[in-house]
Amino acid sequence: MLKVKKENFINEKRPHESGAKHVSGRANYTDDIPELPGTLYSAIGWSKKAHAIIKKINLDKVIKSEGVITVVTSNDIEGRNDVGPVYDGDPIFPEKAEYYGQPLFAVAASTTELARKAVLKAKITYKTLKPITTIKEALKKKSYVLKEKVIKKGEALKAIENSASRLKGNFTTGSQEHFALEGQTAFVIPQEDYDFKVFSSTQHPSETQQIIAKMLNQKSNTITVETRRIGGGFGGKETQSFIFAAICTLLAKKTKRPVKLRMDRDDDIIITGKRHDFYSEYEVGFDELGVIKGLKLKLASRCGASPDLSGAINERALLHIDNAYYLENILVENYLCKTNTASNTAFRGFGGNQGMMVIENIIDHIANSLKKDSAEIRRRNFYQKKKKNITHYNMKIEDNVIQEIFDQLLKSSNYKSRKLNIKKFNQENKYIKKGISITPVKFGISFTTWHLNQAGALVHIYCNDGSVNVNTGAIEMGQGTYTKIAQLVAHELGLPFSKVKVSSTRTDKVPNTSASAASSTTDLNGAAALNAISKIKMNLATYVKRKYKIKNAEGIYENGNVKFKGKIFKFNSLIKEAYLNRVSLSSSGFYATPKIHFDKKNFKGRPFLYFSYGAAVSEVMIDVLTGENKIIRADILHDAGKAINPSIELGQIEGGFVQGAGWLTMEEVNWKSNGELTTHSPSTYKIPAVSDMPEKFNVEIFKHGKNIENVINKSKTTGEPPLMNAMSVFFAIKNAIASVGNYTLNPHLDAPATPERILMSINNLKRKI
Ligand code: MTE
Ligand code: MOS
Repeated sequence: MLKVKKENFINEKRPHESGAKHVSGRANYTDDIPELPGTLYSAIGWSKKAHAIIKKINLDKVIKSEGVITVVTSNDIEGRNDVGPVYDGDPIFPEKAEYYGQPLFAVAASTTELARKAVLKAKITYKTLKPITTIKEALKKKSYVLKEKVIKKGEALKAIENSASRLKGNFTTGSQEHFALEGQTAFVIPQEDYDFKVFSSTQHPSETQQIIAKMLNQKSNTITVETRRIGGGFGGKETQSFIFAAICTLLAKKTKRPVKLRMDRDDDIIITGKRHDFYSEYEVGFDELGVIKGLKLKLASRCGASPDLSGAINERALLHIDNAYYLENILVENYLCKTNTASNTAFRGFGGNQGMMVIENIIDHIANSLKKDSAEIRRRNFYQKKKKNITHYNMKIEDNVIQEIFDQLLKSSNYKSRKLNIKKFNQENKYIKKGISITPVKFGISFTTWHLNQAGALVHIYCNDGSVNVNTGAIEMGQGTYTKIAQLVAHELGLPFSKVKVSSTRTDKVPNTSASAASSTTDLNGAAALNAISKIKMNLATYVKRKYKIKNAEGIYENGNVKFKGKIFKFNSLIKEAYLNRVSLSSSGFYATPKIHFDKKNFKGRPFLYFSYGAAVSEVMIDVLTGENKIIRADILHDAGKAINPSIELGQIEGGFVQGAGWLTMEEVNWKSNGELTTHSPSTYKIPAVSDMPEKFNVEIFKHGKNIENVINKSKTTGEPPLMNAMSVFFAIKNAIASVGNYTLNPHLDAPATPERILMSINNLKRKI
């Protein structure tokens, strides 16, 4: 346990507000909410074909199955039969199946087990159509979910032509299953007048509310969505939770009884979309020093059966195609491939990391072709402070600290001497090879959809004891936003942490919220909470001014006291006194991110308020006979600005890195050519375990970090960006493979770098030597 040194602090380590409850099993998740008498349990029946017209759904045997109370199909939907967040395309129950696993009907029964048994008894008649399952097939058939996009800066083709050297290649990064500890879950309780109380494990209560209202043809004010915490989201509950909450509500409406839907893990993985895998083809021109002069790129992603968030995800990939590098001339074509697979969705990094991997792979290719250390080539291509500081979307970078972070880490990790030692080790060892790599991270913070950058809050101070209740749109998904918001509020009021409670996120308390996503949750919701407090403070100041004839009544809130010029109150006494004098002790708050704007059509503007930076050095070991690999050591230096809670930020930095390493090395999503997902349980899909963590793991927050923008506490979020520090693992593996060819050739390696891919890469290399 962390020691709490003093109350009322910020910038200091403090355990997660639910940490003890998480580890002792006392934290309530949606499935732990006490069930009311008469509660029913549900299960979903889904398509066994990836592409087919649903000719007939015969549910006779399902209805007769033990314990079944009712079934629902598309015929039960009065309003909108779609849960698509931006565009239509995600029917709750479709007429035409677009992927293997697409929900077709649902059952409510007396137990979960009976519901799950019943759905298997459906007789569904399909007219099978040919599925498209791969990016390459989709590109060939021009099967897209949205129109392709071309972005351009300078004269890429000319620049490539005039360059001293040129390279061509292609590169793939894989998909990834979110695998949150808590699966998709909803619990719905009918209220009077066909109102519904919806408990949902979601990152986005407001949109859940809207989607259910539209489905039922009811007003939004009849639906209340509540979420206390979720057992991980990672983007997988930003939109993909909607269908479960919607189906659960549909059953509750039909039966007039409380209904729970807790997904079986296999069904959960089969039904929901994952990370977009990306395929790229590149042509790059560069000078003798390895500085990129021109880049032409084709970037295609597997979006699955519907648009979902693919437009924004591909846009973020395009916005991060530079990572930390200045690109003067680029031409990028972006294709959003429609395939008959579950609709791919948000996943930590939201496409940004897929874009960053493309440029990192290109830089690595350049370094290998010049036979130089890739660290050197990376450094030479970095954005500069005074010049070379305009991005390919015309945003001036004003907070660049990548050089400092990179150089500090090179030193602290002993990169150079270790690199020499590794070369020596590789000369002396035939079957075990080591590799090392350093990679930078620059990640833009804000939703790229402008209007989402707003948040609300509701703060109450209770008159009898001065305790504080804070409500915002923030979803606690393990990342610590409730803890950080409570710290901000406690600090602002000069109160001990224990006097502040952040309560369950609810659409009837704070409306019209954005998803807890884009790493912006605390930035936005924390600022909204502080705005509410500033209003309550104003009420108190007005009262003190009037009552005590104090001219300048700016209160200082510290250590449980409130100091005005010439008068000090105990916080509790002031609150009680204010109440007795009829002063409002409650307020809503609001925040909208300043400065940002983006012209999507011309791909120009300032989409981000600020950038988060980081770098990592990873050292790996591979077995050239089996392709097995291991991270021996990782050193990370990451910018959290002035961290609100360094221990929570460290947790995010470590967790992000491990999740990123999983994506790039061992997690492999696989479909059969008929569109059937073969990796839908821990027995077929491997996520990192404790034993996969680096043996040596040195993680530090950048000490000189400070957000130059007006963000709460001058902090920087650590939600998504640390995941990308794991890029260093992939390129360390590539570096180990390159040693097999005595560093004379560039190995081709796609992600994830599974043992099979590592072996193939080695064998290809050996053939060329
Ligand atoms: N950390 C935990 N423990 N659980 C999660 O689900 N989601 C990640 C990241 N870290 C996640 C997490 C993703 S995808 C995002 S966008 C951010 O947290 C969201 O939280 P934030 O905005 O507070 O950083
Ligand atoms: Mo995170 S992918 O923005 O939910």
